[in-house]
Amino acid sequence: MRNVSSVLGKLARIVSMSLALLFAVTTLRAQDVKEGEKIFKSKCASCHAIGQKRVGPALKGITDTKSEEWLIKWVQNSAALIKSGDPDAVAIFEEYNKSVMTNFTDMPDEQVKSVLAYIKDESTEKPKEGAAAGGGAAKDDNANLFMIFGLVGVVILAIVVIVVLNRVIRTLEKVIATNQAAIEAEEEPKTSKKFLSFAQGFIKNKKLVGFAVLMLVALLGVGGWKTMWNVGVHTGYQPVQPIKFSHQLHAGVNKIECQYCHGGAFKSKNASIPSANVCMNCHNTITGSEHYDGEISPEIAKIYRALDWNPETRAYGNNPKPIQWVRIHNLPDFAYFNHSQHVTVAGVECQTCHGPIETMEEVYQYSPLTMKWCVDCHQTTDVKSDNKYYEDLIKAHESIKKGEKMTAAMIGGLECGKCHY
Ligand code: HEC
Ligand code: HEC
Ligand code: HEC
Ligand code: HEC
Ligand code: HEC
Ligand code: HEC
Repeated sequence: MRNVSSVLGKLARIVSMSLALLFAVTTLRAQDVKEGEKIFKSKCASCHAIGQKRVGPALKGITDTKSEEWLIKWVQNSAALIKSGDPDAVAIFEEYNKSVMTNFTDMPDEQVKSVLAYIKDESTEKPKEGAAAGGGAAKDDNANLFMIFGLVGVVILAIVVIVVLNRVIRTLEKVIATNQAAIEAEEEPKTSKKFLSFAQGFIKNKKLVGFAVLMLVALLGVGGWKTMWNVGVHTGYQPVQPIKFSHQLHAGVNKIECQYCHGGAFKSKNASIPSANVCMNCHNTITGSEHYDGEISPEIAKIYRALDWNPETRAYGNNPKPIQWVRIHNLPDFAYFNHSQHVTVAGVECQTCHGPIETMEEVYQYSPLTMKWCVDCHQTTDVKSDNKYYEDLIKAHESIKKGEKMTAAMIGGLECGKCHY
């Protein structure tokens, strides 16, 4: 018996160890892919997409057609590889009309391998899109549920009001009936007299008057409250923009990171709208979708006109006119809102406040942007304290405890955003 149990014990240990190893390997690989994704998005995505030709070729399946060694050499110094006469390198260079890829000489082999792991991972088909769309749908469902509950609430309220009014009417009828009986005993009254006597009866009934006043105050109060909260609310505001720029196409289908165009949201108060030069990183070569058949899309032509860029000569003129995007989200001047505090410090996703932007053909205002909206979130959201801002505060706190002096600078008093809009 003992032998059997010790053998079983050993077996269990071996199994658990190999499971742990497998787990470690897979998490390591997942980490590689994640790291690779980060590098790809910051260093390569401006020119490459996985499944689509941009400035550079589509990189889907590249790890199957080229060796890892070749790819590392290429990424670190493609110019040298082309110069050395490597036939593959020369071929791709010729194909891309001799445009040059940036050399990433400082990128260690490990990082290139992570990027390759990410490309390989992205090249295998996954039902990713479906999952994302599902998430969006769930949000919509929530919104719908909200609407339904709201409607049910309104209906119930209406029923309550009808029942109460019915009661009031019945009481009034009773009052009128008793009055009329008394009056009829005397003579045939005129209608004006009838009303007068009804009003007299009503005023005499203190309970009834009290109730009516209460109802009126409640109604006015609710109405006032609602209008106050909704002053300047523009949920759903969707102005027509000067260029049909689609977030669904750029941030959704082509997976361009928000950061690429709205980098300000991560490090300053304003998210800011990208300048036309940012568009040109891609649109100096992408002139429109396939159905323009090589012709320039009229929407893209607007970018060229704004920059006074001539696509034939590929030269800039000296008469640029800025694109006049219509601002959608707008707080009044007396309210201070800082993007980086929410995005970088608090780690709130853009979509929490702006909705599923990556599915919008045209951006609309998703959140009400009211004070109630800000306050509700502040009351329910946990603060993340594992960042430099709080580490500095804790350090400052410790130095007070030690009796050292603390300056305003130590609690962030030198940050531009604390004093400047
Ligand atoms: C400035 C634009 C640009 C950037 C940034 C860029 N590439 Fe490229 N890449 C190109 C161009 C253009 C080519 C086509 C070859 C040529 O003309 O040099 C290319 C070719 C390649 C190829 C060869 C593809 C093939 O079919 O053989 C690989 C692999 C590659 N790039 C990977 C990367 C990686 C990984 C990064 C990021 C670390 C990156 N590139 C960043 C422009 C760029
Ligand atoms: C390729 C560049 C690009 C990318 C990528 C991009 N945007 Fe935009 N964004 C723009 C431009 C241009 C506008 C102004 C035109 C418009 O409103 O559609 C804009 C407008 C907006 C607005 C409305 C601004 C206003 O006027 O109030 C929001 C919100 C926004 N973007 C959020 C995002 C989010 C979130 C992402 C990532 C999921 C993202 N954007 C990705 C270029 C981009
Ligand atoms: C906590 C909510 C919140 C988050 C998170 C948030 N925003 Fe905003 N965003 C706002 C508010 C509020 C405004 C209006 C600001 C104003 O009028 O001063 C705004 C305005 C904008 C604008 C137009 C005006 C400007 O600031 O240039 C853009 C573009 C924008 N946001 C993009 C983004 C992007 C991209 C992200 C994610 C990286 C993001 N936002 C995250 C609340 C948020
Ligand atoms: C990182 C690359 C990239 C950047 C930056 C970029 N775009 Fe695009 N854009 C694309 C791609 C890819 C397409 C899809 C082309 C296709 O359908 O084949 C596209 C398509 C478009 C279209 C539709 C073209 C048509 O078929 O009519 C418009 C309009 C457009 N972009 C405007 C802009 C504007 C405005 C900016 C700057 C705010 C911008 N883009 C920045 C990559 C980019
Ligand atoms: C999605 C939730 C959310 C929404 C919506 C939101 N905030 Fe915040 N806000 C936070 C969180 C979380 C913090 C804490 C960030 C930190 O750790 O410093 C914060 C911090 C702040 C701070 C700094 C507070 C301090 O003491 O340093 C200000 C100011 C602020 N928000 C203003 C606003 C305004 C104005 C709005 C509405 C236009 C708004 N916020 C909407 C989540 C939100
Ligand atoms: C402690 C508050 C405070 C901080 C922090 C601060 N500033 Fe200032 N800044 C001011 C004041 C006040 C003025 C106006 C001075 C004047 O009018 O003489 C000013 C003026 C300026 C001006 C000149 C504006 C003009 O029109 O003349 C610039 C530019 C500027 N600051 C940039 C910055 C930058 C960038 C940072 C962050 C590195 C920063 N400031 C941090 C308080 C501050």
